[in-house]
Amino acid sequence: MATSSAFIHTNILDAEQFLREDLSCILETARQIQQLYTLAPDKLYQVLQGRVLASLFFESSTRTRLSFETAMNRLGGRVISTVGFQFSSISKGETLYDTMKMVEAYSDIAVIRHPVEGSSRIASAAIQIPVINAGDGSGQHPTQALLDLYTIQQERGQIDGIRIAFIGDLKFGRTIHSLMKLLYNYEVEMVFISPVDLALPESYRKELGQRGITFAESEDLKEIWDCDVAYITRIQKERFTEQSDYERLKDSYSINRAFLQASRRNTLIMHPLPRVNELSTDVDDLPNAAYFRMASYSVLVRMALLTLCLKAELPVI
Ligand code: NCD
Repeated sequence: MATSSAFIHTNILDAEQFLREDLSCILETARQIQQLYTLAPDKLYQVLQGRVLASLFFESSTRTRLSFETAMNRLGGRVISTVGFQFSSISKGETLYDTMKMVEAYSDIAVIRHPVEGSSRIASAAIQIPVINAGDGSGQHPTQALLDLYTIQQERGQIDGIRIAFIGDLKFGRTIHSLMKLLYNYEVEMVFISPVDLALPESYRKELGQRGITFAESEDLKEIWDCDVAYITRIQKERFTEQSDYERLKDSYSINRAFLQASRRNTLIMHPLPRVNELSTDVDDLPNAAYFRMASYSVLVRMALLTLCLKAELPVI
């Protein structure tokens, strides 16, 4: 049952680092953990017993931080944490390098969220223990994308063959940037729906072209009706340099139950959360609204990642 030896990665920094076989290994490990969780939850407590996770969140988070910490707890490990710059020595002028040197002495693996793009790579270059990127500015959020992939597989049966719409802030939304990169490994069609000012950055568009991915761009939300998956995101207020631009764009789109029920494909509704006004609460009890179920999937996927990065073995039952 154990799969760690097939997994060559120690750090998780960017969605681009993965090949399809790595993704299969992660999804399969998460599936095995899901099974173990039902059949022998006590055995899971032995997997990371005695290991320590440093949970370093220098930017706001509810889901990602709590789900990583829950994942470590459910594998029998311990968690140490720091939240926000104001309560860490970075507010006294300490560099990220020095902070990481301390973290290396205290823990076996570190998860870091930081507002600066590329910061997790800098953090990992400073130390020998595994580092996991939990979101770096508007750059990447690879573990969210991995749980998104697991969600699609669980809820749709397979990833190949889907047509997926990405809706919202395609410019600053790091979850979209990471998920589209993971999807390069599958046979999918992508549709990007956003106001013009928040369109997908040119570098990503170029990448899609170079990889020969079929994609379309639109401002029309009705494109969702012909998609198997709708991945809805909020406008990333904290990334705007001019708040007046945010005010102008913040109510550009709002999706409700009646609109989604017109879908021709029983579209799976995903959202990384938090939501603001872009997705109405009247969608929540539709059977194809997956965003609250994603919270359970997230713990399984992060349990898989901690197990794999620390080269631990899952119990055999
Ligand atoms: C996302 C993030 O932090 O990028 N949230 C999350 O991790 N679930 C999405 C967002 O903040 O909009």
